[in-house]
Amino acid sequence: MRNKDFSIDGSLVIVTGGNTGIGKETARKLSSAGAKVIIACRNMEKAERASIEITELSQNPVKPMLLDLSDISSIGRFSEKFLEVYGTPDVLVNNAAVYMRKYQETSFGMEMTMAVNYLAPFYLSNLFLPHMAALDGETRIVNVTSDAYHVKDFDAKLSTRKHYKGFSAYSQSKRALMYFTFEMAEKIKRTSVTVNCVNPGHAATNIWPSDAIHWKAARGIISMIADPPSYAAENVVFTASSNEMKGVSGKYINNLAIGEPKKDSFEENTSHDLWENTLLYLQNLI
Ligand SMILES: NC(=O)c1ccc[n+]([C@@H]2O[C@H](COP(=O)([O-])OP(=O)(O)OC[C@H]3O[C@@H](n4cnc5c(N)ncnc54)[C@H](OP(=O)(O)O)[C@@H]3O)[C@@H](O)[C@H]2O)c1
Repeated sequence: MRNKDFSIDGSLVIVTGGNTGIGKETARKLSSAGAKVIIACRNMEKAERASIEITELSQNPVKPMLLDLSDISSIGRFSEKFLEVYGTPDVLVNNAAVYMRKYQETSFGMEMTMAVNYLAPFYLSNLFLPHMAALDGETRIVNVTSDAYHVKDFDAKLSTRKHYKGFSAYSQSKRALMYFTFEMAEKIKRTSVTVNCVNPGHAATNIWPSDAIHWKAARGIISMIADPPSYAAENVVFTASSNEMKGVSGKYINNLAIGEPKKDSFEENTSHDLWENTLLYLQNLI
């Protein structure tokens, strides 16, 4: 029997994209608090380096595992191998994300930002969900979103925009992740799994592009005014591990507080439509 009273000490935790930025700081903090942390990353060299660094700081072994969120079969392989090697996670932190300045597609034809930031956490969470629900005690899914979710004309059909804009694609993907959080919370309310989304706040990390002059300038400004990743990670750690979050599900966490996103940003039926469209999309793919 594990986690009768939710405690992060001794819990098995996955942090996607835990090799850098907010994910790495989240992994370090949770590992320091006694969690057994696995960082799931697309680049094993970076992941191994980060694991060694975090382990040295937390004095608690952190392990790397390969996961490419732009590749559907990699997500399937990861979940199977994880369950085989480590067992069922107590906490899944869907942290990894991209901001694509230029239009790019995955090998299966979906716009990259939507695929990595939304479709992948949807699929990964649903692969682990039945296992997490079967554990005795509370387990948690944490979706790292952003306050950049205010996109107009949200498209629940997952179709590609004609005129690609990086910020709009990012915003769209984060909004989809939030719709997914609210819909999943409703669907699993009778289980012991909770699902929430969290805005870490602005931090100077690698997420912002560096391949254009205006972005180089913007990165310079961001690094002066934004918080360090360790500060932003506090919001994620709060959502993943705090006692205040016990039994809380379907919420938007911002500034270490349980709240709601702007009401007029989310339409009632869209979360259901998006869920159904995503299931259909995945069924055709797998
Ligand atoms: N920084 C901010 O101001 C801010 C604000 C609001 C929300 N957020 C959110 O916070 C989270 C962490 O972002 P960050 O700022 O820490 O960015 P970051 O430093 O760029 O980290 C993103 C992580 O995602 C990983 N990743 C990207 N594509 C992947 C893929 N296909 N498969 C597996 N991993 C992949 C990256 O791996 P590589 O190292 O290999 O690239 C990296 O580990 C994201 O969800 C982001 O949207 C950030």
